[in-house]
Amino acid sequence: MKLFRIVYVSRAAEAVSDGLMPLIDIIGVSDRNNRRDHLTGALMRHQGFFIQVIEGARGDLDRLMKRLHQDRRHEDLRILADRPVESRGFPDWAMVRLDAPPAADDFLDDHLEAPDAGDRAEALLVQASRSMAVAP
Ligand SMILES: Cc1cc2nc3c(=O)[nH]c(=O)nc-3n(C[C@H](O)[C@H](O)[C@H](O)COP(=O)(O)O)c2cc1C
Repeated sequence: MKLFRIVYVSRAAEAVSDGLMPLIDIIGVSDRNNRRDHLTGALMRHQGFFIQVIEGARGDLDRLMKRLHQDRRHEDLRILADRPVESRGFPDWAMVRLDAPPAADDFLDDHLEAPDAGDRAEALLVQASRSMAVAP
């Protein structure tokens, strides 16, 4: 099966821009659906932005992206990277919530529009995921 990885950034709607409950809702549904669809990835919320990476088969990703574009809990969804990959970078989670590392401020303030924003966002998520324990 050919694997793809998408990284996007979006602006959180006010109702979900802070507090843990909205995030727990999103992660709960994502975990259930993504297990079903063999998708893996990670989600970070910081400074009113969502940064998410999702990986899996093309069809499953495209169906998810369609739902994400219609979801009113965020707007201005911008795809930063969408590329074929050899293997999963986030194999351990259907969807995991990551705390933003300090470098997230720098990325959102200064590099969101940069040509290498996709690489930077991915590196940020990888960095943040290193501190997560993998559930048994
Ligand atoms: C920032 C954000 C990230 C999301 N990530 C996912 C995801 O990884 N997988 C998923 O199925 N839904 C995700 N959702 C929710 C979808 O937009 C949509 O509400 C959901 O897939 C609908 O699933 P349901 O038909 O089972 O209720 C996300 C929503 C937001 C706002």
